[in-house]
Amino acid sequence: MRSEDLFKKAASLIKASKKVMVLTGAGISTESGIPDFRSPGTGLWENMDPTEILSTQVLFNYPEKFYKIGFKILSSMRNAEPNEAHYILSEMEKKGVIAGVITQNIDNLHQKAGSKKIYEVHGNTREGSCLRCGEKVSFEVLERKVEKGEIPPRCDKCNGILRPDVVLFGDPMPYAFDLAVKEVQESDLLIVIGSSLVVAPVNFLPGMVDRLIIINATETPYDYKADVVIREKASYALRNIWDLIKN
Ligand code: APR
Repeated sequence: MRSEDLFKKAASLIKASKKVMVLTGAGISTESGIPDFRSPGTGLWENMDPTEILSTQVLFNYPEKFYKIGFKILSSMRNAEPNEAHYILSEMEKKGVIAGVITQNIDNLHQKAGSKKIYEVHGNTREGSCLRCGEKVSFEVLERKVEKGEIPPRCDKCNGILRPDVVLFGDPMPYAFDLAVKEVQESDLLIVIGSSLVVAPVNFLPGMVDRLIIINATETPYDYKADVVIREKASYALRNIWDLIKN
C-alpha cells in the first residue's frame, strides 16, 4: 500500500476513535539530533551494552564507571530542541485529537514542544536524588559535581551517592507506568512512534489496546498486530496524517 493510502487509513482510524494515546520512543527524537539506541549503524547500543552502562548494577557497584560513561549519554540528550513531530503531537493534544503521550524518552522534548499530559515511563533528566536519604537535586547539580570531578557525586545533606532520576536497567518501573497502563486500557487506539518495542514492560502496552498504528523506520515485533504500519520518518508521517485530519 502507498504511504498516501496509509496516511488516509491512519487519519480515519484516529478520527473514528473515542480515546487515542501515543507511545513514543527514541526514534521520534533522532530528527532533533539525538541518536536512538538500536538503529543499525547509528544506535547508541551498537557498540555498548546498555545493561553494562545504564544499569543499577553498575551505578551501585561501579559508580565511577557509571558516571564516566553512562551519565555522559544522559547529559548529551539535554540540549536538543523538539522537531516537527513533537510539535504536531502537542497540537493534536490541544485540539483534543489525542489524550496524551506516553514516552520512553528522557530528553524533555515533548515538554519543550508544549505537550501537557506526558507519562515519562523511563524517568527524566530534570532531577536526581540521593541513594541514602532521598534528597532531590536538579540534574544541573549532578552535572556540576561531575564536571568538578566529584565522582560519584555526593549528597550535600548526608554524603550519600546521588543518582539521576532516569529509570535504569534493574530499576522498578515508576508510578507513571501504572498510570500509562490505565490510560492505554481505557483507549481504543494507540499510536506508536519511533520505538523498536523490544524493551519490557513498556512493550506490553501495544498488546493492551484494540487498534494500533505504528510509525517506525524499521520492523517491530508488533507490526503483525497493527492496523496500519507506516515505514516513514515520524515528522513526515505525522505532518501528512495531521493535514488529513485538520482538513
Ligand atoms: N522516524 C521513525 N522511526 C525512527 C526514526 C524516525 N525519524 N528514527 C529512528 N526510528 C526508529 C528506529 O528504526 C528504531 O526501531 O525508532 C526506533 C527506536 O528504537 P530504539 O532505538 O530501540 O529506542 P526505544 O524503542 O525508545 O528504546 C526503548 O531502550 O535503551 C532503552 O531505556 C532505553 O527508553 C529506551 C528503551
